[in-house]
Amino acid sequence: MWTRERLSDLIKTKLGERLLVVVSNREPYVHVFDGDEVKYYVPPGGLVTALEPIMEASGGYWVAQASGEADNLVVDGDNQVACPPDHPSYTLKRVFLTKEEETGFYYKFSNAGMWPLCHVAYIRPTFEEADYKTYKAVQEKYADAIAEIVGDRPAFVFIQDYHFANLARILKEKVRNVITAQFWHIPWPNSEVVRILPFKEELLEDLLYNDLLAFQVQYHVINFLDTVNRYVESRVEYDISRVNRGGRTTLVRAFPISIDFEQVSEISNSERVIRMRHELETKYRLKGKFVAVGVDRIDYTKGILERFRAVDRFLEKNPQYIEKFVFVQLGALSRMQLAAYRELNDSLNELMVSINEKYQSHGWKPIVFVRANHSKESVIAWNGIGNVSLVTSLHDGMNLVAKEFVASRNDLSGALILSEFTGAARELVDAILVNPYYIDGLADALKTAIEMSTEEQRRRMTRMREAISQQNVYRWAAKILSEIFNFEFVEA
Ligand code: G6P
Repeated sequence: MWTRERLSDLIKTKLGERLLVVVSNREPYVHVFDGDEVKYYVPPGGLVTALEPIMEASGGYWVAQASGEADNLVVDGDNQVACPPDHPSYTLKRVFLTKEEETGFYYKFSNAGMWPLCHVAYIRPTFEEADYKTYKAVQEKYADAIAEIVGDRPAFVFIQDYHFANLARILKEKVRNVITAQFWHIPWPNSEVVRILPFKEELLEDLLYNDLLAFQVQYHVINFLDTVNRYVESRVEYDISRVNRGGRTTLVRAFPISIDFEQVSEISNSERVIRMRHELETKYRLKGKFVAVGVDRIDYTKGILERFRAVDRFLEKNPQYIEKFVFVQLGALSRMQLAAYRELNDSLNELMVSINEKYQSHGWKPIVFVRANHSKESVIAWNGIGNVSLVTSLHDGMNLVAKEFVASRNDLSGALILSEFTGAARELVDAILVNPYYIDGLADALKTAIEMSTEEQRRRMTRMREAISQQNVYRWAAKILSEIFNFEFVEA
């Protein structure tokens, strides 16, 4: 099995003198005020979960946007702060953006444009020239921050996601001695969808300044190669998954991202988390009930409305579960400056209230909606409660919530209901795979999951745990390194 230690050794031998710099929009720690005190929290979403173990294994720098009101108070003159704050092993360099920059770069171009473009969730992407200009200007700022760190030293810059489609080009025009890999965490749509993007030629050309471009699944690799073939003057070698353009070559590969399986499993077994589980069960009166749990950022791609509707349909079809079943949705508020997110949040409230009114009796309600930014431990505690995890994304590059649920279930109990439109469904074939657009199917899956025999739960959970414990985040990182530094990947 790949471990943190093995990856750490590998990074030291293969990187040699090269500095590792990770770039993402989201920072791993956000510093905020609590009264007069400065505290920090870890933001929601899969990205930090996946990258932190690699940073801890390797040291180096993580460049990301400052997002907390107290972020500027804890950095040094170079905008740097040692992380993790309690036991530092790498350096976070914060990039400070103005309100206008954040709006154009993060909210508008990235999340009202690229995000809906890449996810098929029937929300229309919008693109404006001014936002694209801001998007590129912000990447210039990032490139300057990276150049400050790197100087003349050889470096490996590992760029994350759709916020930085032009960064490889901008950076390579400033610093000469860098190798770049970019991991696209979200889906890459087919070429017909990309047709909508007004700036597609330039954006694709800039992405091709990367030495390696990686996606979650092979399907996205094929979509990308087809897109380049259609819109960019280049030579696409489908057989070896490589693009040649302007004297440069870009390898295009699929590397499904993962979690630190052992760590999640250990946390789930810790006394603190076991205690939290009991407290939560008591607080929400879940003891003796059939419980299903959903954990998401409140995002229209996650299929949360569909999940609520499925709970309604499930109780309509199976009234014997009234007062015996509870669905708990943990929802972290997200991207609330955008109307689509505010509207979703309102729709979720309305739907929850109407379903709860329809069924409530004797102080019991079928849906509990806990809207908060949950700590890693609290999510793991929730993952251990009840019988079922509901992951019903309409479209998702990977979905690490599903993998964390599996890693949390040390006693091999529980069933995972998983959307077939997630990257995770390719690995977790022992989940109950569902089409989230089909509410009757979802309701039936809920019944199947709740009524699944203990032996069947064990059989499926054992296989899913085997898959994820092998294909963990260290293996993911090792595979990317083996590709970029051209050495033979050895299974551990
Ligand atoms: C997805 C994206 C990440 C992003 C995360 C949370 O997982 O791939 O890049 O960080 O969502 O979204 P947010 O906009 O809050 O960073």
